[in-house]
Amino acid sequence: MQEAALKAAGLEGSYRALETPPPFLRARLQEIRRDYSGVNITIPHKESVLPYLDELSPEARAIGAVNTIVCDQHRLIGYNTDAPGFISGLDEAGISYRHKKALILGAGGAARAIAYALKEEGAHIAVYNRTLERAQALCEALGLHLVTEPLLEAAVRSCDLLINTTSVGLQDPQSSPLPEGLLPCEGAVVDIIYNPSLTRLMQEAQKAGLPTLGGLPMLVWQGALAFELWTGVKPDVRVMYEAARAGLGEALQT
Ligand code: ATR
Repeated sequence: MQEAALKAAGLEGSYRALETPPPFLRARLQEIRRDYSGVNITIPHKESVLPYLDELSPEARAIGAVNTIVCDQHRLIGYNTDAPGFISGLDEAGISYRHKKALILGAGGAARAIAYALKEEGAHIAVYNRTLERAQALCEALGLHLVTEPLLEAAVRSCDLLINTTSVGLQDPQSSPLPEGLLPCEGAVVDIIYNPSLTRLMQEAQKAGLPTLGGLPMLVWQGALAFELWTGVKPDVRVMYEAARAGLGEALQT
């Protein structure tokens, strides 16, 4: 996706994976400081990378997680493009969120970025998570409503926007983060899982006639925003979508 965007923009460069086990994170960042224009950071380093950076964007600091680093004259600056990437995906799909009631399932790093982004946009946000303490911590940090088990059903049915940020549905496409039949009465359903492209939760929502959105737009838009931070150039997002779809198609076949 990034290489296709570089090529389409007529820029030189390459984008590749640098597998980095946790004990090597510090050494890897020295290498990046020396040799790279920028990197994306992914699981499990999005939070643990913070102390090694020279500067953080206000969003990355508030979210407490970084997914993009720009290397500017050997200084490492951390950003979070997951948050605005999620919003761009909703905008593109025409799903409204301003002053709407959003219910987030999950309380990990992705939930944190999405909650921050939606709150900045004026949504009213509630959080439900399997582990109550984690949801409590997120709600306290960002000033959100906590949903406990007995209140989950009412919260789901009445929300305008349901967002699955848990990994349920990723390994086992037949699993869903909610019991069968429990869906918003009228709201849109977003699942940030992009592989499979249609999760069980989305299938059930579509059957019920609700608008749905998968995880591909967030993946592409966070990448497009990172590209712009690294190069100063707006990438061709259609090219990135095509490359991402082709890459995922290949991943599914192997
Ligand atoms: P990420 O940074 O991608 O959000 P994470 O921090 O590992 O990843 O968070 C994963 C989320 O999926 C958590 O909210 C987790 O719930 P717990 O806090 O209870 O662990 C949720 N999750 C993972 N497996 C789950 C399952 N089988 N049922 C319900 N929630 C699950």
